[in-house]
Formats: sequence, C-alpha cells, structure tokens
Amino acid sequence: FRPKLLAGRKVLITAGPTYEAIDAVRGITNRSSGKMGYAVATAALELGAEVMLVSGPTSLPRPAGTQLIDVTSASEMFDAVKQHASRSDMFIGVAAVADYRVAQPSKQKIKKSDAALTLELIPNPDILAYVASLPKPPFCVGFAAESEKLAEHAGAKRKKKNIPLLAANLAQNAIGNDDNELVLFDESGEHALPRADKLTLARALMRHAVALYMKGNRK
Ligand code: C5P
Repeated sequence: FRPKLLAGRKVLITAGPTYEAIDAVRGITNRSSGKMGYAVATAALELGAEVMLVSGPTSLPRPAGTQLIDVTSASEMFDAVKQHASRSDMFIGVAAVADYRVAQPSKQKIKKSDAALTLELIPNPDILAYVASLPKPPFCVGFAAESEKLAEHAGAKRKKKNIPLLAANLAQNAIGNDDNELVLFDESGEHALPRADKLTLARALMRHAVALYMKGNRK
C-alpha cells in the first residue's frame, strides 16, 4: 500500500542523456540509459502525482500515465523545463545533460580528411541550477554521478546548486545497469540506500523527498 502523498501535485522530471549534434550524422552525448529517471517517474506516479517526463533519447517505453516530452539536445530540454518549472511542485533532474554543445554544428555531414579537426564547445545551461534559482522554486532534487570521492563531491554539489536533496551514485555502478546504489545528501547529512533495482531505489528516494517536501525543507 502506498498512500497518495503527492495527489494533486505536479512533478517535473528530466531523464536520459542529451545529444549535441556535430553535423548531420555525428554528435556528442553522455552515457545514460534513462532507466533511473523513468523509475523515478514511475515512483512519483505511484504516489499519485501528475508526472511530466522530459526525456532525452532513450529506447525505453513511456511509463504509463506520465506525460512525456521527447527532446534531443540540452537546449531543447531547457526550453521544455522552462515552460513547466514554475507550475511544478517538485523538480527532479535525473538527466545526464551534456555540459557542452558544439558552437556551430554543420547542417551537412563533415567530409573526412587527413587533417586534424577542431570542434569548439560552448557550455550548456545548467537546467537544475536555473530551476533552483527561480523566485518560487519547486522542491528540487538533483542527481550526481561521480567516478570517485562520492561524499566529498556530492555534498559540495548539493550546496553549490542550492538544492535540498541530491542523490549521488558512482557512475561505474549506475550506467545502463538495472541495479544501483544511491547515497542521499540533505541538510541533515548522508543516507545510504543499499544496492537494489532502480525502481526500489526510486521509491526510497521519493519517500525521502516527499518527507522533506512536506516539512517545507527547501534548502
Ligand atoms: O554538476 P553536475 O552536472 O554533476 O550535476 C548533476 C545534476 O545537475 C543532475 O541533477 C543533472 O540532471 C543536473 N544538470 C542539469 N543541467 C546541466 C547539467 C546538470 O540540469 N546542464
């Protein structure tokens, strides 16, 4: 039995990777299957929330009951989030957003040659930081994939992004797998969620997020 603690609440979630075009056929992306974000969407639905899922390219089926907005690039993801963030009660950024995009993607396929090719990369907007800095932000939850020093990097990241809750995982545990391990960082410290399938972890994360949200704990 799961009480519908989020009935009538709007939850906005980003999931999956983003894809930044280099030319008509090539691009830069992050390794992300979208499984964790889709599991979080399912867990939010189970709590009775109205769920909008902004998803980069994945091969996953839409979790039944969610509104899905398909996007490709970080800029498209940002536009979709900007449209819906201020009307949301909770924002959960699970997407592995590319930190950079190609300054001038080519419409045509770039011809191969023996010469070195230099790409200019420019930073993408930080979608989560934008939502967290809105005048009346939704309750914000971030994710962090680190390759080492989880506690040090993730604790600092939560404070830097000014968000009440951050779920951290080791990239080598998380990417593409059905199982994962999470450590939740909030104002009171860290809380380890032991290895489990991603839906089990998503449910535990949502329980934690809802408890903080109900307490009005927004920083
Ligand atoms: O700083 P870092 O990229 O590790 O932060 C990860 C968190 O920030 C994730 O919640 C991710 O979805 C979000 N993020 C974002 N926009 C970016 C980069 C990261 O929303 N451009």
